[in-house]
Amino acid sequence: MRKFIQSIMLLALSAQLFAQSSDWVYATMTHESALSLQSSHPSGIVILATEGNVSAVQIQHQLAPSLKSGNLHGPGYIYRTDAQDAVQALTKNAPKKFNILDFTITEDMFVNEVLGMVSQENLGNTILELENYGSRFHTTSSGRQAALDLKEKWQEMAQAANREDITVELFQHQLTQQRSVILTIPGTEVPNEIVVIGGHLDSGDWSLQTNAPGADDNASGIATMTETLRILLAKNFHPKRTVQIMAYAAEEIGLVGSNEIATQYNNQNKNVVAMAQFDMTNYNGSSVDVGLINDAQFTSSELNLFWVELMEHYNSTGEHRITYGTTACGYGCSDHVSWTENGYLASFPFESSFGEHNPFVHSEEDTFAAMNNDASHSVKFVKLALEFVIEIAKVSTMSTQELNKTDIQIVVQNRDLIYQFNSSNKSLNSMAIYDSSARNVLSKNQLNASGRISLQGIPSGYYIAVFKDNQGKSHSKKFLLK
Ligand code: BES
Ligand code: ZN
Repeated sequence: MRKFIQSIMLLALSAQLFAQSSDWVYATMTHESALSLQSSHPSGIVILATEGNVSAVQIQHQLAPSLKSGNLHGPGYIYRTDAQDAVQALTKNAPKKFNILDFTITEDMFVNEVLGMVSQENLGNTILELENYGSRFHTTSSGRQAALDLKEKWQEMAQAANREDITVELFQHQLTQQRSVILTIPGTEVPNEIVVIGGHLDSGDWSLQTNAPGADDNASGIATMTETLRILLAKNFHPKRTVQIMAYAAEEIGLVGSNEIATQYNNQNKNVVAMAQFDMTNYNGSSVDVGLINDAQFTSSELNLFWVELMEHYNSTGEHRITYGTTACGYGCSDHVSWTENGYLASFPFESSFGEHNPFVHSEEDTFAAMNNDASHSVKFVKLALEFVIEIAKVSTMSTQELNKTDIQIVVQNRDLIYQFNSSNKSLNSMAIYDSSARNVLSKNQLNASGRISLQGIPSGYYIAVFKDNQGKSHSKKFLLK
């Protein structure tokens, strides 16, 4: 009997201990946030280490919302599994294996065939389907179910296309019960090189757990990737490099899903060539269609330059026209950060300029109805996702090689760009040079078929030169100015 009582007491004690310890989590945040929490809630935070402007901390998770204003988004913190993980995160970084010259535009034929295939109706249906869970907050049963259902949905799509090579897996996490979903299209020639597109499947945040429709944030991103997948399957796309499509768990509380995945990839030395994040694609709030997020700390300038090249090449005129500008979150705002932190090249084409995005983000009003039941803005992001995946992973047939020869040749010599345009039926109109923050550093009109353009005064670095012909078609070339 005494033993019985003793063990009951022990059980009660350990339950209490557990409750206490589960209130505390490990995280990293800006040193400034850590200091301000320390003065407002001295018993709620322990600063473990600081490196530059980032601190590893142990913190009571209830304090998370106080880092943000109301329901709004803003600098928060990134969850870490334990103290060691938090401290190591301060110095983590694997070497970059790929550079700007590894990204080329060669798959015109395939890409031009798929750009017209995007269905706005499918996008709308997927957004509504996800909104109808009520909440996809990571701790809710509806949120956990949404991950399982998405896995089934992607799996059925692959099966219906007779693609036995494609796998869809659930990724089990340490810090959340919600699963992430990973679809893999194996590469035929270099399967160990991986191209990732991703977005979070959860919704809500600490102060919005039950009624969190998350239609734009981020049902729209999941819909964008699902429609991209449908088109790749319809075209029986087999890539040379492996393609992975990822729907992350528990982004909204601190990038949990993507962080555990990217950390594992890094630990296993997986070779991710490039990643693009799709988080909020359906609210058309800016004069430009796309805000290319370019926070220097969190995005790859190599990939941002490639995005400029892609959009100049495929989306500068006609029915697939997409306009863009650059913008910054100013903090680690989404899952691309997890990949950057692990040394991979990551990018984030966003629905608008930062600040002109959907005003209902993280509220009960983030619904499809609030976006006029109109998914036309997301259509553009499916086109971007297709261009990114197809051009980086490459189509696995020899048949498209013929189309690869470009009409324009350039050489850079003594700070002059020498060009030659070879076409019997077209002439050149104009050219523009962009730097790796997508800034236009030089423009010229009325060009001859060949010529020399002075680059005096332009700093060293990587650039792209985009030439436009008299039919409005773009021809782009990258170059290194020493
Ligand atoms: N989709 C948002 C990020 C976002 C919101 C980007 C508005 C640009 C404009 C994302 O789901 C989010 O809410 N992120 C958190 C940060 C994260 C580390 C928890 C945020 O922005 O507060
Ligand atoms: Zn959010």
